[in-house]
Amino acid sequence: MRPLVIANWKMNETNQEADQLLSELASGLGTATDAEVVICPPFTALGVLSNYSYAKGAQDIHWADRGTFTGEISGPMLRGLGCKYVLIGHSERRWKLGESDEIINKKIKAALRNELIPVLCVGERQMDRNNYQEFIYNQLEAAWRDLGVEDLGEIIIAYEPVWAIGTGQVGSKNPATALDIKNAYAVIKKFLQKEKLEGYSRLVYGGSVDSENVGELLGVDGNQGFLVGGASLVPDEFAKIVKSVSSSFGDK
Ligand code: PGA
Repeated sequence: MRPLVIANWKMNETNQEADQLLSELASGLGTATDAEVVICPPFTALGVLSNYSYAKGAQDIHWADRGTFTGEISGPMLRGLGCKYVLIGHSERRWKLGESDEIINKKIKAALRNELIPVLCVGERQMDRNNYQEFIYNQLEAAWRDLGVEDLGEIIIAYEPVWAIGTGQVGSKNPATALDIKNAYAVIKKFLQKEKLEGYSRLVYGGSVDSENVGELLGVDGNQGFLVGGASLVPDEFAKIVKSVSSSFGDK
């Protein structure tokens, strides 16, 4: 399977700014890449993304397909706009907006029902680091409740330790080490094996990824790409990350 580089723009970029950013990225990156580039802009910029060749991802999905949920966006709406991927369970939604495991489970079901590939984000907070194994395993089990391999086309699991995610402030970067990621992937792989999902899943890492550290993190066994926040808003920087991922996997 192709490696993934997923851009999570979070709540940044107006429609016009999105167009500018994407056109700068397109000139920096060109079209040839062995990596699949997925852009997850705010919902308002999904339309602009149609003019570019990148895969479309949404940052969230509602669990119902339609109904009285003012302000929400559903799976059929995302499909209608050509989305292929959807982020679910991002730590900023879990911890800043109070999204529970139960809601995340319902959102995974909504994504699968609408043939969107879920990018399920899991990862421990600083205070949970002593028992990160149990913490991550519980998040996975809760997200996958009442689901089986027969429900799945594909799932991406993003390991995003909360302590490693940039705050958007200069100097706030604190990426996980290759060893941290390897250890967390071991837990995720155990879960995937138990649920017989190994052949249907890809593992990516997110948290302070940039063009300087991507080389080291690429080496982690089983890593199939990255979920990039802050650095995905800087076209040159993101293009460098994509090129590193692309050339390293092209060699394999
Ligand atoms: P970051 O964000 O790359 O800015 O740390 C990653 C994410 O939150 O998905």
